[in-house]
Amino acid sequence: MPKSKAGAAFLLLAFGIAAAQGQGSAGGGARAPYRIECGTATALGTAAVCRADVSTYVGWRVFHAQCASCHAADAQGSSFAPDLTRRMRGMDSRAFFAALDEGYLGPDDPMPPRGANPDVSRYYNELWSYLSARVSGDLPPGPIERLPSTGFAAPD
Ligand code: HEC
Repeated sequence: MPKSKAGAAFLLLAFGIAAAQGQGSAGGGARAPYRIECGTATALGTAAVCRADVSTYVGWRVFHAQCASCHAADAQGSSFAPDLTRRMRGMDSRAFFAALDEGYLGPDDPMPPRGANPDVSRYYNELWSYLSARVSGDLPPGPIERLPSTGFAAPD
């Protein structure tokens, strides 16, 4: 098997494990639940453009529709909801899903539960992929595009 193919197979496996178990802490590493490729839009001379696997891409869309009104664009936080790129450091997926299911009654403002809202509850894994990529810094702020499908399975 050529080296590049072995590498792809390994990535596939690592992704599959992370997605299937829904575990691990927010951030990068071998079990990162996302795939990101960033380049520079030299033709336009503008900022880096990043592309992401379909799960992360969908997570980004859902985040901006359902969460950004409080947590702000790119999860960077507002005056009334925390910067999730900091708040979710070290948080595991179980705690993340519980925060969405049950809401969060923290010391500041409470966050209402989201579990009964299918526009959110269907996309927990996608939100997890997106926010993990933001927490690790592998995905900088800004719009993202979808990576072309390579046949690697995204979690449903
Ligand atoms: C109505 C405003 C609002 C919306 C909408 C909202 N949040 Fe929050 N969220 C908050 C606030 C406020 C906190 C902090 C609560 C505190 O610290 O007391 C918070 C906290 C969190 C936390 C940290 C929980 C913890 O245990 O530390 C996570 C994770 C989170 N939000 C994710 C999300 C996601 C993902 C969405 C979209 C599906 C979302 N939030 C939508 C207001 C909101």
